[in-house]
Amino acid sequence: MTPLPTPLLRLDVVSIFPEYLSPLSLSLVGKAITSGLVGLRVHDLRDWTHDRHRTVDDTPYGGGAGMVMKPEPWGEALDDVLGDDTADTTLVVPTPSGVPYTQAVAASLATRKRLVFACGRYEGIDARVMAYYRDRVDTQEISLGDYVLNGGEVAALAIIESVVRLLPGVIGNPESLVEESHSPDLDGLLEYPVFTKPLEWRGLSVPDVLLSGHHAKISAWRREQAERLTSDRQRPTV
Ligand code: ADE
Repeated sequence: MTPLPTPLLRLDVVSIFPEYLSPLSLSLVGKAITSGLVGLRVHDLRDWTHDRHRTVDDTPYGGGAGMVMKPEPWGEALDDVLGDDTADTTLVVPTPSGVPYTQAVAASLATRKRLVFACGRYEGIDARVMAYYRDRVDTQEISLGDYVLNGGEVAALAIIESVVRLLPGVIGNPESLVEESHSPDLDGLLEYPVFTKPLEWRGLSVPDVLLSGHHAKISAWRREQAERLTSDRQRPTV
């Protein structure tokens, strides 16, 4: 058997629901992992608890609804998972109060050697955990959008998928990364509408210009469509 190459990107995910990350074994991300391009380890936070109930949460100081994740298991887990060498490593903490996630953030994460995801649940992780690691490792608190999920796992899945597809060798035809929505080459425009066979479907036909073979006209049409879509959806352009 040929040995696996050193991965381009190493991923660690710490969660109390490791099974939530199982879709990572599918599709392009799954292939990137089995081919050795990406290394993935998923860890159960409860492995770093020491009580019979494997407790990871407690009531908030100052009162209020919900529970807060305790700092001790997180500290032990992150010390172990991060290890001593945190060069080129980013600790990613998905949280609704984080910095908004964009394609530009995905592109910057794709340049790192290692990403460690700390997936919180409940009302979040005791704030001292981020304060501690922020001084020791590049730490990014990231929000997928202005809505609240039950925990960081779904956000970690989305971030991982969007980062891994940018790595060289993951997408068969890298050209497809160039002309997609949010790519820098589209100046902030959304992607134009696309069509395939059949020519007629339920009384709807494909725009004539796409059958013309006239590349300049096709490009102009696509640009105009992308501009219209971007303005209809009230998206800013650069
Ligand atoms: N955890 C809960 N809600 C989230 C969101 N919107 N983005 C990232 N992580 C989250």
